[in-house]
Amino acid sequence: MRQKIIIDCDPGHDDAVAIILAARTSQLLGITTVDGNASLAHVTRNALAITELLEADIPVHSGAAKPLAGESRHAQHVHGETGLGGARLPLPAREPASEDAVEYLLAASHEHADCHLVAIGPLTNVALALQRDPTFAHRLAGISIMGGSTSVGNVTRAAEFNVWADPEAADVVFSSGAHLQMCGLNLTHQLRTDDSHVAELRQMSSVAASFVADLFEFMHERMADLSGSRTFPLHDPCAVLAVTAPHLLEFEDRAVAVELRGTLTRGMTVVDERVTRRRDPANVAVAYRIDAGAALRHIMDVLAE
Ligand code: BDR
Ligand code: CA
Repeated sequence: MRQKIIIDCDPGHDDAVAIILAARTSQLLGITTVDGNASLAHVTRNALAITELLEADIPVHSGAAKPLAGESRHAQHVHGETGLGGARLPLPAREPASEDAVEYLLAASHEHADCHLVAIGPLTNVALALQRDPTFAHRLAGISIMGGSTSVGNVTRAAEFNVWADPEAADVVFSSGAHLQMCGLNLTHQLRTDDSHVAELRQMSSVAASFVADLFEFMHERMADLSGSRTFPLHDPCAVLAVTAPHLLEFEDRAVAVELRGTLTRGMTVVDERVTRRRDPANVAVAYRIDAGAALRHIMDVLAE
């Protein structure tokens, strides 16, 4: 049976692929948007446009326009001004179903048993929902997070973007007691597209395939400039696969906490990887390995539909 999923996101190139994957392989109940890769207005417009492209009647609820503390910090140098650089999407005709993502998340968790929340942007909406009603944590089947890392960061040497953009929110979520899965950079860097995927997508006839080919082309250029490698790590789809195809990933239970104060390490996910019995009690199933060949094949097959 298909899993019930709500996606909390900031589309974003890899968010867009995650939404398509979830729309086609799960029961995608709704999408909530959060300030992150670009402004809330941009990412909400992008989410609406993606649902229209898919001709999918999935409600989009907009949420937090800034982090719990401090100011918004976007990733335009990666995703472009609108959050979806390179995309040729018409302005959506649809409007958001509401501007209260938190209320939607809480209501949906009452209405649907066994619902997974896939959180692939800064964790502001999720933290606000937990603060408004801490029992939210236990009404969800789990929260699958793209965020953090057991190794390198990307915005700073220690911090990954989604946690760095709102560390206070990430702290609320990681200490909530919810059943958490974490796909951090240590994992998502294993799942990379290259120009052969663009060529394959261009051979397909689906609208989703040509949309994603444009996204990958833009990102391969960006990554070549930023990192010297013409490959794009598909971060956010990993958090969908953790729910819909968990056999493709390997997890280890670990204690994970968010660093809020370090001058070099604010926004870092500190993972207890000690091998002795002194390890702290685990609160997160951390993904360490993904069968990248099988995962990419699965994603490409979904895009061909
Ligand atoms: C994460 O940050 C965003 O730029 C991506 O969409 C992904 O969710 C990777 O660090
Ligand atoms: Ca994202």
